[in-house]
Amino acid sequence: MKFTALSGSARSLSTNTAMLRAVAAITQPDHAISVFDKIGDLPVFSPDLEGGPLPEAVRDFVTQVGGCDGLILSSPEYVRAIPGGLKNAIDWLVSRDEIIDKPIVLMHASHRGDDMLAQIRLVLSTVSTRFCEDLFLRFELMNKSQSEIESHLSLPAHSRAIAGFVGEFAAFCRR
Ligand SMILES: Cc1cc2nc3c(=O)[nH]c(=O)nc-3n(C[C@H](O)[C@H](O)[C@H](O)COP(=O)(O)O)c2cc1C
Repeated sequence: MKFTALSGSARSLSTNTAMLRAVAAITQPDHAISVFDKIGDLPVFSPDLEGGPLPEAVRDFVTQVGGCDGLILSSPEYVRAIPGGLKNAIDWLVSRDEIIDKPIVLMHASHRGDDMLAQIRLVLSTVSTRFCEDLFLRFELMNKSQSEIESHLSLPAHSRAIAGFVGEFAAFCRR
C-alpha cells in the first residue's frame, strides 16, 4: 500500500509532521508512506485558478494525493479550528476527482485539539465518500522534540499500535 501522510502544520519543528515521519519509518517496508509537509507552499485557493494550468506546488500536491491508496492526516488546532493552511490544501482538492473516493484516516499528535478534530471530521466526510472515521490514533506529543517523538513512538506498545492502525487502514483501503 502507498499512503500519503498530510501534515496540517507548516512549522519546521512540527510535532504532527515528526509523528507522521516516525509512522512512515516504523511501518516500512510493509507500507510506503510519503509525508507531505509542503502545505505552506500552496497559494491561496481561488476557483479562478482552476481554469488554466495549476500552480506547480498545487500540481505536485494533487499528483501525490491522486497517486496514493489512502491519505493519513494529522493536524494541530489553531484558534479552536482547522489551521488555514490545511483548509486551503483541502479546498484545492474539493472540485477534483482525486479526493472523492480517497480513503482517509485521522491521526492526532496532542491531548488537546478536539474542536479542530470535530471540524476536520465534518470536512473530510464531506469531501470524501471513504473517510474512515471509526479508525483514529492519538499520541500526546505536544512540545516534544523530533528525537523525543521518535523514541516515544518506538516503544514496543506504541510501535505495535501504529502497525495495527496502519494495517487496519490498509484493509479498509482494499475493501
Ligand atoms: C496560532 C496558534 C493557535 C493555537 N490555537 C490553539 C487552540 O485553539 N487550541 C489548542 O488546543 N491549541 C492551540 N494551539 C497549539 C497547537 O495546536 C499545538 O501546539 C500543536 O501541538 C502544534 O502542532 P505542531 O507541532 O504540529 O505545529 C495553537 C498554536 C498556535 C501557533
